[in-house]
Amino acid sequence: MSRFDEIIDRNTPEDLKHAKIEGIDDLLPMWVADMDFKCPDEVIKALVEQAERGVFGYSEADESYYKALTGWYKRRYRWEVESDTVITLPGVVLGISYAIRALTKENDSVLIFEPLYGPIGRAVKCSGRNLVISDLVLKDRHYEIDFDDVENKIRENDVKMLIICNPHNPAGRVWTREELLKIGDICLKNNMVIVSDEIHADFVYSGHKHIPIASLSEDLKKITVTCTSATKSFNIAGIQAANIVIANKAMRDAVDRTAFSTGAFGLNIMGLVATRAAYNYGDKWMDELVTYLEGNIELVKSRLEGTKLKVTDIEGTYLMWIDASEMGMDDPSKFFLENAHIKFSEGTFFSKKADQFIRMNIACPRSVVSEALDRMLKLPEIR
Ligand SMILES: Cc1ncc(COP(=O)(O)O)c(C=O)c1O
Repeated sequence: MSRFDEIIDRNTPEDLKHAKIEGIDDLLPMWVADMDFKCPDEVIKALVEQAERGVFGYSEADESYYKALTGWYKRRYRWEVESDTVITLPGVVLGISYAIRALTKENDSVLIFEPLYGPIGRAVKCSGRNLVISDLVLKDRHYEIDFDDVENKIRENDVKMLIICNPHNPAGRVWTREELLKIGDICLKNNMVIVSDEIHADFVYSGHKHIPIASLSEDLKKITVTCTSATKSFNIAGIQAANIVIANKAMRDAVDRTAFSTGAFGLNIMGLVATRAAYNYGDKWMDELVTYLEGNIELVKSRLEGTKLKVTDIEGTYLMWIDASEMGMDDPSKFFLENAHIKFSEGTFFSKKADQFIRMNIACPRSVVSEALDRMLKLPEIR
């Protein structure tokens, strides 16, 4: 038995993912991106030790924190990061939002690829910037960037910033070196800033490799804001901690000032001790987790094969993006909630055009994935 087979009781009033839905007492929540696994013992121990001290004063990341962080980047992605280039913040989306506000001006254009995790586009729009969307192209269940469209949109809208997500939620892509270099060239040529959301960096499956775009060249390092966090990787999203790497001092100072102007600084003490313990002791746990998730993915792919649900290739993340258009439903996620008591994320959270898609979070014990598949396969509508 794997440690990830354990069913953890998440039935608490504060739990967002497992929140009760009236009239449903056997809900399978497979939506918001956190996992149903216990985080590594070392992380729990670090948090318990801190809690038992009974003091939760202001905190500051010290050398031991940055050593843990930069050690992880180096071991896992061969990325050399200097401690003084990191800004700590309570969240990745917050980091993206500050970068937008600090590094572009009102009404400037910012480009994203859709479908994409909704709060990113929202951050662009709510910051008074012009959101420009280049749709990823789905070919044979595999998403690709339409580079001609990207270049045209950059030219037509005088785009100042590109926000990428790597690995991409929900398209499941882990961008290759060639794709990243092409993205990088376009941004360098057009004097653009790159914001790279790499929160899913640790979820990369066989045959693929996570490459931080900032690690590809000195030129790219100078124009990139990389948003990272241990929260997705170690299932500690509730402690809210992110690390934003900005090698370019002028850009870093600008983002820092914007953060400071809102009163945001540093990490809460629990975020700090949990992140440090995770990056110091989490390698083996992470490797085992990725192998386990790969098993869940295979199970979903094989059991849904031949049905009307078309599973998109997944190279990274634990979020499976499924095309339900053959079912011809107005709202596929509502259909599965009402008829199978499974809560998926709605496609429209990621793109207005994705109303026929559902996103399935498979970061839960295999028995739960299996139960969800049993319920889905019982429905004649998917045949
Ligand atoms: C791509 C992506 N970025 C950011 C976040 C949220 O990060 P945070 O809670 O640190 O703002 C998520 C959460 O699902 C995500 O998938």
